[in-house]
Amino acid sequence: MCGIFAYLNYHVPKTRRDILEILIKGLRRLEYRGYDSAGVGIDGGNNKEWESNAKSIQLIKQRGKVKVLDEEVNKQQDLDLDIEFDVHLGIAHTRWATHGEPSPVNSHPHRSDKNNEFIVIHNGIITNYKDLKKFLESKGYEFESETDTESIAKLVKYMYDNRENDDISFATLVERVTQQLEGAFALVFKSVHYPGEAVGTRRGSPLLMGVRSDHKLSADHIPVLYRCCIICLCLCFYYVAYSAVIEHTNRVIFLEDDDVAAVSEGRLSIHRIKRTVGDYPARAIQTLQMELQQIMKGNYSSFMQKEIFEQPESVVNTMRGRVNFDNNTVTLGGLKDHIKEIQRCRRLILIACGTSFHAGVATRQVLEELTELPVMVELASDFLDRNTPVFRDDVCFFISQSGETADTLMALRYCKERGALTVGITNTVGSSISRETDCGVHINAGPEVGVASTKAYTSQFVALVMFALLMCDDRISMQPRRREVIQGLRVLPDLIKDVLNLDDEIKVLAEELYQQKSVLIMGRGYHYATCLEGALKIKEITYMHSEGILAGELKHGPLALVDKLMPVIMIIMRDHTYIKCQNALQQVVARQGRPIVICDKDDYETAKNSSRTIRVPHCVDCLQGILSVIPLQLLSFHLAVLRGYDVSRINKLHFSISSLRNNHAQKNDQYLLYF
Ligand code: UD1
Ligand code: BG6
Repeated sequence: MCGIFAYLNYHVPKTRRDILEILIKGLRRLEYRGYDSAGVGIDGGNNKEWESNAKSIQLIKQRGKVKVLDEEVNKQQDLDLDIEFDVHLGIAHTRWATHGEPSPVNSHPHRSDKNNEFIVIHNGIITNYKDLKKFLESKGYEFESETDTESIAKLVKYMYDNRENDDISFATLVERVTQQLEGAFALVFKSVHYPGEAVGTRRGSPLLMGVRSDHKLSADHIPVLYRCCIICLCLCFYYVAYSAVIEHTNRVIFLEDDDVAAVSEGRLSIHRIKRTVGDYPARAIQTLQMELQQIMKGNYSSFMQKEIFEQPESVVNTMRGRVNFDNNTVTLGGLKDHIKEIQRCRRLILIACGTSFHAGVATRQVLEELTELPVMVELASDFLDRNTPVFRDDVCFFISQSGETADTLMALRYCKERGALTVGITNTVGSSISRETDCGVHINAGPEVGVASTKAYTSQFVALVMFALLMCDDRISMQPRRREVIQGLRVLPDLIKDVLNLDDEIKVLAEELYQQKSVLIMGRGYHYATCLEGALKIKEITYMHSEGILAGELKHGPLALVDKLMPVIMIIMRDHTYIKCQNALQQVVARQGRPIVICDKDDYETAKNSSRTIRVPHCVDCLQGILSVIPLQLLSFHLAVLRGYDVSRINKLHFSISSLRNNHAQKNDQYLLYF
């Protein structure tokens, strides 16, 4: 999870000290993405005429935290920090090692050569980097790092060295580079050959440009130019990264895949190599609707903890204006134009990754029950690997908190090409999945920053249940069940509060378990998804081994793992699987297992056979999974803290945007661009 932060000021004087402080502060804002090294690239030289300093680039890179980089910056004896730059581009990066160990040489920015003619920062992965490297090495370019990114830095120099004339623009060079790249990327380039210019581009990784202006902008759209045209907006630009966005501006431009955004002499242009069907020939300047306090931790020790405790409100926000508890109706504005078509379909396919996949597993049964349609739940990567047959009369759902997950997005494009109707269940308005699906439901859970998805899971769950209810709203035979589920949704927020009150009890349990190597989590029916999700949370946050096991599969192998030492958590609720779960409990006890059971508050029978119980309130069966997962969210959080992991550092970043604003450009405005 690399983080990119770039900052460009045009005719806004800043000292080198100011610029470095802004870059370091930007990286600090990105720290909660998780990283192991960091670096910056700025203009070098100590000439009084700042313009000539742009003829060299200084790289400062360090393994470890941004603090270490900051110390390294302050150690730079040969850099005059008081020099003032009227125009300057600085780029900065936090790296999460994928190709090569964390080290200064593997850190970004990566460079084209020993003279730092071109430097680049990258978020994503280049899958054909070995081929590129082989080609470039054959042309005499020398590599110094083990990363995939370095091939981009060398490639842009290769394009420059082989340019047909000296008028070639920086954007054109980058366009040529991106044509050779495979994989996913968000990139920002800087070069001594193009002083004060920045070029950013994306494919598969989100890329956002924030715009700040003291004046009104002249347009609320930036036209897209096809191959080498230039548009003029005479302005100043800053590039920064997400969490700094809100404190500087809420005006942003979302780039589309393969857009190349260039800032040259204070002018912003967006280029595309070719026009594709459905291309919108402009990028809107949009307004981020997010207040600073929305993304702050408040009294909680981490975003993850905050988001777990937000769930009574976030599920209400998912249902707000959509569920009428008095007349038992559901309205989903995002689906109203397509619901008839969906009702006529032959199959529902739910496609997602990670936690979002589990939301599909969790609601599959109620979807099958209320829609009476076959429902497939697919991991996006596997779905693509299999070239799964998809037909025009399929309806494909893409569940994603961020709306940007590459595999889910690729699966969406795959299904679209095959003519299926595509529906998004996303938390991020304006995200790629939200924009590219035919229709969908925003879950409105609010920004989720913790990397371990918690409130998005329960809101996705609620959104899918609402969809199931909508699908059968005119079926007379379904009405009693619909009423039962809708009334279940009504009481859900209060029941979630009751479960959250178990926090102290769960913390005590975590104290007993945190030194263990492994935890097994077993259940079936509505709670199989809880087992998978609980195990994923534990793995992701605590670095402990954990496995979610379908209790019906116990006798086919997993039982061999159970003994008096292995921690086992079982989920046993009073639903149609209750007797079968009791059998599983007996099997575990017979092998001297000492199960911790998450069960209904008043289930004394189960309590008798368990070494410990976590009692949760009872809810309608198909919603009970929301209540059974919360103890496991809390448990993984406490385990992580007790095992010494800094949960506050394990975060992700996402955006939420809303309405357009009419802005009008003027000369000497100030802009912020965010990647
Ligand atoms: C919308 C407004 C909401 C307002 C409500 C009032 C937005 C984003 N939402 O909510 O602020 O209170 O009307 O009636 O302006 N979509 C996709 N893919 C997705 C998610 C959504 O295509 O993954 C589409 C929907 O089909 C719809 C639009 O985005 O066209 C907004 O969806 P959603 O926010 O769920 O709609 P409403 O609940 O009607
Ligand atoms: C992974 C996260 O990278 O992406 C998971 O670690 C998450 O927590 C998964 O569930 C899918 O993300 P999204 O945004 O598509 O729901």
